[in-house]
Amino acid sequence: MCGIVGYIGYREAYPIVIKGLKRLEYRGYDSAGIMLYDGKDIKISKTKGKVSDLEEKSEAIASSKATIGMGHTRWATHGVPNDVNSHPHASNSGDLVIIHNGIIENYEPLKKELQKRGYTFTSDTDTEVLVNLIEDVQKKENIKLGKAVQVALNQVVGAYAICVFDKKKPDEIVVARLGSPLAIGVGENEFFIASDASPFIEYTSNAIYLEDEEMAIVRLAKPLKIRKIKDDSLVDPYIQELQMNLEQIEKGGYDHFMLKEICEQPNVIKDTYRGRLHANQGIIQMAGVEDNIEKFLNAERILIIACGTSWHAGLVAEYVIEEFARIPVEVEYASEFRYRNPIINKKDVVIAISQSGETADTLAAIKLAKERGAFVFGVCNVVGSSISRETHAGAYTHAGPEIGVASTKAFTTQITVLTMIALRLAKAKGTLSNSDFHRYLQELEVIPEKVLEALQTNDKAKEIAEKFKDASNCLYLGRGYNFPVALEGALKLKEISYIHAEGYPAAEMKHGPIALIDEQMPVVVIAPKQGHYDKVVSNIQEIKSRSGKIIAVVTKGDKQVKELADHVIEIPETSDALSPLVTTIPLQLLSYHIAVLRGCNVDQPRNLAKSVTVE
Ligand code: F6R
Repeated sequence: MCGIVGYIGYREAYPIVIKGLKRLEYRGYDSAGIMLYDGKDIKISKTKGKVSDLEEKSEAIASSKATIGMGHTRWATHGVPNDVNSHPHASNSGDLVIIHNGIIENYEPLKKELQKRGYTFTSDTDTEVLVNLIEDVQKKENIKLGKAVQVALNQVVGAYAICVFDKKKPDEIVVARLGSPLAIGVGENEFFIASDASPFIEYTSNAIYLEDEEMAIVRLAKPLKIRKIKDDSLVDPYIQELQMNLEQIEKGGYDHFMLKEICEQPNVIKDTYRGRLHANQGIIQMAGVEDNIEKFLNAERILIIACGTSWHAGLVAEYVIEEFARIPVEVEYASEFRYRNPIINKKDVVIAISQSGETADTLAAIKLAKERGAFVFGVCNVVGSSISRETHAGAYTHAGPEIGVASTKAFTTQITVLTMIALRLAKAKGTLSNSDFHRYLQELEVIPEKVLEALQTNDKAKEIAEKFKDASNCLYLGRGYNFPVALEGALKLKEISYIHAEGYPAAEMKHGPIALIDEQMPVVVIAPKQGHYDKVVSNIQEIKSRSGKIIAVVTKGDKQVKELADHVIEIPETSDALSPLVTTIPLQLLSYHIAVLRGCNVDQPRNLAKSVTVE
């Protein structure tokens, strides 16, 4: 949450920082700000609203030739989104300027202490406390900025990725991280700083990702020095070559990132299994699994921890792993797991799923599982992210950057990875017959074609969206493998269109939600031919007899549900276990079109942020 960008070099900083903020806007978009230093003066412009609002407000400084700049796009934690609480924040002397992503938990006692020492505060933020704490340390101990940042951070409890600039030392920016990501792009005679590498990919493909509790002084014409914040020891900078390209982070002709990402699914699912799935040879190989196969095979239980959409992918995995590999699986919200003193055994394998790889609760749950001796395997999308580094081993989903705040391609690629794990374990354990194993491999290989076909339901989804765009509630029902898809469908709708939606196992409807059904209530039922079709048909009849409006996702050629439902969306036939990869597509499209028709900001829904780095 919150995006930060910094530049120090020879180019004009303003356009680099503004463009970078636009790319990071998915991380938070309730306010934005920029600082430029032109060799003489610090200029700050900030505002409630989006980066485009900041641009409008910053005309006076836009032509600045400043070659040092820092920018911030905010997702508010302390203090409501308004101009004053926006970052950057300056210290009382005006010499120090900070941008911050994270939370300083002990800011109140620190603030009181600083107030006693004469400091005043204009905002309600924890960040303004931090910048003044740094200034206070600097003055008291008469030390340079880097050292003062280090001393101050050792007094702080919380999470941060920060950039600090000192007018008295204008050839450097001091950066540090704990719990929030921070990447440094290394160019020739220039450095870029950002929450992820997207703001600088057209300038350099060399990046350093700071680890937790590390800081760096990013100084012109000097090699980068990275230190541990706690003990001041030097760390060798590890420069990674970026795999991202510019095309991946642009809309490419689509109206929204979300639609682009929905449509990318046939290709990214292929990217996910490329080199891992060899259907003709009957082989599934994933380095992280192969290297730890004994751990998986000896596991008495697999615990899956995740949040939101990733948790839904975990639920699908529970069904697939238990079905294929016959290993007991439990799926938990990371936020519950981390605080409930869970029983974790050394023989447990924990799978942590996260698109961003930065979700604070998932990260904390991983740390807890590790402390208690479990082997932790990560399924992440963002390469080099905190979770990918914190886990013992893992598998990337290779979905490419997901910028739309509502997760789409991350979900299907997570399911692809988890299904491959289930199949690999089933092969090793002999829990699937040879013919079933080969059949699933072959079917997985053609899933991208089926997803492509499912994308052809776009017009139908739009047509249905026109009819239901003004609904105030919506129910999603599915059974078995498609129960998590119902949850995910409901989440997609509520988060981008603000229509209240609930997902339920279809059979649970009669234990409560059936009371909601009347002629106003749209009920989306996932009813593919495989699986518990007859049971779902009975559920549909129950809805019909209470005049609910039925939108059914059915297998091509279905007749029975067609007769009962008000609207049907047809998708290609797929085996039950792999069906979530296909059934989820029309639900994504339906939510997308409803949100567009309601005039919602699809890519940046209110109050949300892409990467939830606060608990
Ligand atoms: C929903 C959505 C969120 C995320 C959740 C976990 O569309 O995007 O529910 O799935 O915040 O995020 P990651 O997967 O990055 O850990």
